[in-house]
Amino acid sequence: MTTMVIVGAGQGLGAAVARQFGRDGFDLALVARDQDRVDTLAAALDKDGVTAQGFAADVRDPAGLEAALDAAAAALGPIEVLQYSPAPHADFMKPLLETSPADFTGPLEFSLYGAVTAVLAVLPDMRFLGRGTILFVNGGSAVRPLPARAGTSVAYAAESAYARMLHETLATEDIHVAQLIIPGVITPGHPSNDPATLAAALWAMHQDRTGFRHFAGVLEGEG
Ligand SMILES: NC(=O)c1ccc[n+]([C@@H]2O[C@H](COP(=O)([O-])OP(=O)(O)OC[C@H]3O[C@@H](n4cnc5c(N)ncnc54)[C@H](OP(=O)(O)O)[C@@H]3O)[C@@H](O)[C@H]2O)c1
Repeated sequence: MTTMVIVGAGQGLGAAVARQFGRDGFDLALVARDQDRVDTLAAALDKDGVTAQGFAADVRDPAGLEAALDAAAAALGPIEVLQYSPAPHADFMKPLLETSPADFTGPLEFSLYGAVTAVLAVLPDMRFLGRGTILFVNGGSAVRPLPARAGTSVAYAAESAYARMLHETLATEDIHVAQLIIPGVITPGHPSNDPATLAAALWAMHQDRTGFRHFAGVLEGEG
């Protein structure tokens, strides 16, 4: 049994992905800022037969995030799958012309520096196992930047560039890196944006190990 860690695990996509990968044999490490919330989610998963444990960390605090990922691997075993999917903060989404240089700090700490910290923390486990999967999840502004959400748009572009370079760099080590773009809002019952449907798409990306960027549904103007 190996471990999947979800960095940014909440009741929406995080819970659905945890159930999907848990059903398919992974133990789950759930990372978010609020220990009570990840504990509650872990307890609900445990009830359904999925081994899960919560670890509190803020992705904007590199030392705290590293410590949480180390603790997760020590408690549950080596990490084979990382999903980086914290839900972005509302104050990252200011209009472009109201966004100062300082306003880009938070989004970049969140989307880029946190992602780099998480990847470097789990890479030794994946190399030890000889395989791994790293999944990035982003909204449509990663592909089509939105001036109304300048911080996340710029930071998602940086995260996407980092992820795409990882895809190429780690391919020879059987560490598959891929990105799921979710256009629109995650909505239970929606044909493409239902959490369980998205979780199944992420499972398929982990299994199929082809290509970098995948879309859940259609992003207007793309493809
Ligand atoms: N929701 C949407 O409509 C939508 C649309 C397109 C794309 N997405 C993507 O889907 C993913 C999120 O899915 P979701 O919205 O369903 O969320 P979710 O899995 O329900 O929860 C995400 C969790 O991220 C945690 N988080 C937020 N800031 C954090 C931080 N600084 N450090 C650590 N954890 C943090 C929050 O927990 P704490 O508050 O306890 O930290 C939250 O519960 C993201 O990758 C997002 O880009 C979402």
